[in-house]
Amino acid sequence: VTQYLADWRPYPFEIAETRLEFDLAPRATRVRSQIDFRRKGAGDLVLDGAGLKTLSLAIDGKPLDPAGATGGRLVIPAADLPDAFTFAAEVEIDPEANTALEGLYLSGGMFCTQCEAEGFRHITWYPDRPDVMAPFRVTIRSDKPVLLSNGNPVSQGAGQAVWHDPWPKPAYLFALVAGDLVAVPDSFTTMSGRQVALNVWVRPGDQDRAGYAMESLIRSMKWDEEAYGREYDLDVFNIVAVDDFNMGAMENKGLNIFNSKLVLASAETATDGDYERIEGVIGHEYFHNWTGNRITCRDWFQLCLKEGLTVFRDQQFTSDMRSAAVKRIHDVQTLRARQFREDAGPLAHPPRPDHYQEINNFYTATVYEKGAEVIGMLKRLVGDQGYRRALDLYFDRHDGQACTIEDWIKVFQDATGRDLAQFKRWYTDAGTPRLTLSEDWRDGTLTLDFRQETAPTPGQPDKPPRVIPIALGLIGPNGDEVLPTTVLEMTEARQSFRFGDLGARPVVSLLRGFSAPVTVSREIAADEQALLLAHDTDPYARWQAGHDLALDALIARSTGAEGGAEFSRAIGGLLDDAEADPAFAALCLSLPGEEEIATTIAARGEIPDPDAIHAAREALARDIASAHEPALARLYEAMTTPGPYRPDAEGAGRRSLRLACLGLLSRIDGAARAEALFAAASNMTERQGALEWLIAAGRDAEALAAFAREFAGNRLVMDKWFMVQPLRAAPGLAVARARDLAARPDFDWKNPNRFRALIGGLGANHAAFHAADGSGYDFAVDWLMRLDPVNPQTTARMCSAFETWTRYDATRQAHARAALGQLAAMPGLSRNTSEMVTRILAGG
Ligand code: ARG
Ligand code: ZN
Repeated sequence: VTQYLADWRPYPFEIAETRLEFDLAPRATRVRSQIDFRRKGAGDLVLDGAGLKTLSLAIDGKPLDPAGATGGRLVIPAADLPDAFTFAAEVEIDPEANTALEGLYLSGGMFCTQCEAEGFRHITWYPDRPDVMAPFRVTIRSDKPVLLSNGNPVSQGAGQAVWHDPWPKPAYLFALVAGDLVAVPDSFTTMSGRQVALNVWVRPGDQDRAGYAMESLIRSMKWDEEAYGREYDLDVFNIVAVDDFNMGAMENKGLNIFNSKLVLASAETATDGDYERIEGVIGHEYFHNWTGNRITCRDWFQLCLKEGLTVFRDQQFTSDMRSAAVKRIHDVQTLRARQFREDAGPLAHPPRPDHYQEINNFYTATVYEKGAEVIGMLKRLVGDQGYRRALDLYFDRHDGQACTIEDWIKVFQDATGRDLAQFKRWYTDAGTPRLTLSEDWRDGTLTLDFRQETAPTPGQPDKPPRVIPIALGLIGPNGDEVLPTTVLEMTEARQSFRFGDLGARPVVSLLRGFSAPVTVSREIAADEQALLLAHDTDPYARWQAGHDLALDALIARSTGAEGGAEFSRAIGGLLDDAEADPAFAALCLSLPGEEEIATTIAARGEIPDPDAIHAAREALARDIASAHEPALARLYEAMTTPGPYRPDAEGAGRRSLRLACLGLLSRIDGAARAEALFAAASNMTERQGALEWLIAAGRDAEALAAFAREFAGNRLVMDKWFMVQPLRAAPGLAVARARDLAARPDFDWKNPNRFRALIGGLGANHAAFHAADGSGYDFAVDWLMRLDPVNPQTTARMCSAFETWTRYDATRQAHARAALGQLAAMPGLSRNTSEMVTRILAGG
């Protein structure tokens, strides 16, 4: 059944308090609940429940017939209810059988929960909707040594713990953990002097890998006070690492639960990228305490209210902790790779969708990353001070409430006086606008004529113009900036802007800082792009100029034309002063990925050929390596990071440049340097980097064996081992490699990290996944069919590997359609996967 935003109605009751008692047992956990309801509107009492064995139900102590509680809903007629009453239930659930990892489940013998979005109904009968908020009192009985829930501890005794969370919260923020855990403790004093006890809970033996998560938490708490004036509000803050988790992490009030890969790190086991993600996600979940928990969502259509804002906040945090320029470029890369791709295909939806079948399918790049971009645009339009005033008003006005995008927009209108009616389309309309620039130069005046168009998306044929903040600058022919960054506000489908009194024709540095999530189409000569790459003052625009140069060359080559001379020349200039900013140089040296090349070709209305794209990219890499071998080799040697490993931005930047050089050089040195580095490296960043190039060169047997011997006991590191092989193997070999790996006894496919490593690794090998014989599609679908009955959420998410299937040729499309058809026809297919496959197939 489809849920519609238009159907939302207020819940007719509020809750004074929710009391829960858990008697934990793997196969039969008892949950007793008492919920104090008060009427606030007309209507029946409707409660949600799923997969519960209901033992008893009562209103104010008077038993109800549990037989009425079936089909996921329990409805008690309004006529049978006083204005205030206590609803009580006792149910039995089976955590051990819960392989979907939704509700209460077991991970490595530990009890844990995941309730967002609708997991709480798998625990007991409840109004499982985000606009019903209550303080919780939770009693846990179990023989596990560590018993945790939300809020503050009330009492801890033999086999029993009581927790009280005074902050009213929706059920999706409930959490419980019981296990054999050890804490890495620390503390934090908030700006008003509150002492907070901090703990990162891990399995015994993992303590020495939890330090970075703790440091990141402390930095997050400090940053939110300084940047947003937000203070923490409980006596304790607990983080727990679990091995089996469908997503990254969860912001449960006072008790964040994390996928262990986003907590555990050491130099030997985690890469620079892992460290950066840990810091970012620890921040993200912590920042939810205000943007998500204190102020939550009225309904799940409003998901981007908390996610877009919290991603925006974690991006700001990372920019402040590391390099703002590098962070921005990374974020743009991710947005393009994931969100633009989503927006251009059958799964396109607006940041605030107005209908869905399964909300878990809407935890997407559009809701998260585009949701964050929309806030970045708002901030650009109202200015830093306007943004700060609006956010202060938001926290002030809506603390303790469950809100909507309309509330959010109104706060900006009220705080800044700006009319945001047209801006709101960014929230309600799907699709990526295409911005086309044509220029006219005469008599010292440059006229920029912009057009914006957005292609139809499923269910939305018409796309009226949006407000697009276009940040630009002008660079004179000798490289001087003749106009610093200026923000144009485009509101019409077509609009011109004039810049006069210019001596010579400048080059437009367009969309500085990636000021709006749009694609750009413009005529620009290769030597003008090279000028921007050499002289632009905006780091994003500078990088983009080089990136476009490479992209144009790759597209030309993949269609049999020539290309790359200008790019290669520009790289030469860049290598000369690469040491001044290694991270930036590394970004410029990394060629656009095959997926992005295919996306760009498809956006130009042509059919991408995965094999030709792969060949073109390899050839360009080889040419660059040959042309610049001495400089690359010199940089490769220079970019070492002596002394003990430090996961900071500076060291990470040097290592990223080192590995970028290594990748290019591996194309011409038979991976000799990669082999040496693999043997010598003392950190996982270089170790994994070297391994990837050994795999690409087909010289991996010894290294893989050594790696597996060394890390056999470390699941997170072995996930890397499972991922890099299908990802980096030559396209013709990758599917066979994936098949062999899937047959191994340690391919623990019920673990989402392991499943994603292997199937996702192959999915990210563009030419292999889109193999012309359909073998990539078949392999993936075989595994999706196997996983769906076990874990629908993870299966459904992985279906997005197919979201681009209609851009390829008829042969590939036929293979994809057949594979997807098989999945769609599987008896008992979950609602999650069924919605995804139906939408994906409807695109063809
Ligand atoms: N709110 C969590 C986060 O942003 C995501 C949890 C989503 N989980 C799910 N099963 N849909 O970080
Ligand atoms: Zn989030």
